[in-house]
Amino acid sequence: MPLLNRRLFLGTGLAAAAIWPSLGSARAQTFDTDPFALGVASGCPTPDGVILWTRLIFPVEPVPLADPFAPIPEITISPMDVFWEVAEDEAFSRPVRSGIYRAVQDWGHSVHVAGARLEADRWYFYRFRCGNAESRVGRTRTAPSVDATNDRFTFAFASCQQYEQGYYSAYRDMAQRDLDLVVHLGDYIYEVSYGAHLVRRHGNGWPPTLLGEYRDRHAQYKSDPDLQAAHANFPWLAVWDDHEVINNYANDDAPNVIGGDKFLRQRAAAYQAWYEHMPVPPLASRDFSNFKIYGRHGFGQLLDIAMLDTRQYRSAPLEGPDGPPQRTMLGDAQEAWVDATLDASKAKWTIIAQQTLLSERDTKAGNATGYNLDGWDGYRSARTRLLDSVRASGTANPLVIGGDLHAFYAADVKEDFANPESATLATEFVTGSITSDGPSQASIATALAENPHLKFASGREHGYAILSLSPQKAQADFVAVSDRKDPNASAAIFQSFAVLDGMAGVNRL
Ligand SMILES: [Fe+2]
Repeated sequence: MPLLNRRLFLGTGLAAAAIWPSLGSARAQTFDTDPFALGVASGCPTPDGVILWTRLIFPVEPVPLADPFAPIPEITISPMDVFWEVAEDEAFSRPVRSGIYRAVQDWGHSVHVAGARLEADRWYFYRFRCGNAESRVGRTRTAPSVDATNDRFTFAFASCQQYEQGYYSAYRDMAQRDLDLVVHLGDYIYEVSYGAHLVRRHGNGWPPTLLGEYRDRHAQYKSDPDLQAAHANFPWLAVWDDHEVINNYANDDAPNVIGGDKFLRQRAAAYQAWYEHMPVPPLASRDFSNFKIYGRHGFGQLLDIAMLDTRQYRSAPLEGPDGPPQRTMLGDAQEAWVDATLDASKAKWTIIAQQTLLSERDTKAGNATGYNLDGWDGYRSARTRLLDSVRASGTANPLVIGGDLHAFYAADVKEDFANPESATLATEFVTGSITSDGPSQASIATALAENPHLKFASGREHGYAILSLSPQKAQADFVAVSDRKDPNASAAIFQSFAVLDGMAGVNRL
């Protein structure tokens, strides 16, 4: 059982529920604290629906540590029937769908509502009720139909939100913008504490290894009101990176965890907690020994988004930059899926959403070379296959987005990174971190000097990126907060770029 700190329950209080219909057979529950204190979310929009998410949480009295080695007693919390409702308007005067979802302890009392059968390309409002408790109202948007000739779509993308290193002012800014979608590229939670001048602390500070501990970490992150606002205002797509489990893990291999089976149990716990806190489709099985999260998300004829998982299937890390050609970043099945997905994409813009910088990056000045072997530079043959796939598919306008580096980058993705004259196959934008500590300006200057295809790089700012698409052009805006350590920080666009239809490559605005 998660031992949630009572600090997490300073929520919104309980709203009157008199206007809601009776739950019929559902047992009446009376809550003293807000079970919806983690907020609401929606995600994975399709033309006929969207996943609605919440997770009920209940305060649990801390167990006295008279004997720290005694097993924590199992506390049973009953299944809870959660009423959900979707309406066309925020006042719920035009309700369109409703139902009951049974939230159970085995799934952390998480709620993943699918199949609401909604209309394409429009805004909806949703809310939940359980007993005498009512959630806040969330807003979401379905995807345009497959053949829609839509001419505008705007989404934000974000990564790397170490909770202790800053406040989520970037999300407060994001929540107020006119967006159709938010894409999260990983490091949604951090398992580790590090860095200086921390503004808040992870629970007891220990890295999680058990399901209850990963649940508590996710719950603590989800308790942030600015993050809750960004979830409540838009549908999200999310993939994980490494810190959702443990730093720099690769498939079944984790630094400093001895014993593959032990790590795989920890990974399964982390994957389950991720599932329980993300607006992703409901699962039937609790077998988290593998968990497919990559997938294609279509938004009319204007764009397709291919969300990749570069962690779960990758080959073990290298000691040097070269390795055998069969080394993989995506795994065989996902590679074949990427080939088929790019081949099938007829959209004006095809977004390849992955975790980090796809383009090569030499990090050492002068003749010496150095590479981040945890990124694609440690998986060169896999990158070559991905770029071959992009080229062979004839995809109209491939755009690569990423995170992970805690710095903003814009890059021309070259056929041959050693030859600046070679063809530009795609355009790449990497968002800086929401809060996580960034690199030194000296390392950024070296990266720019050594890699002519990197057209922009900056590690000073923290924030997120916005991609605005039309049939003629894609515009990328990089947004920075004034001070990640200030809970009341402002935010503004500090750099913009354009990519023109049919002309891969970064144009600085
Ligand atoms: Fe990160």
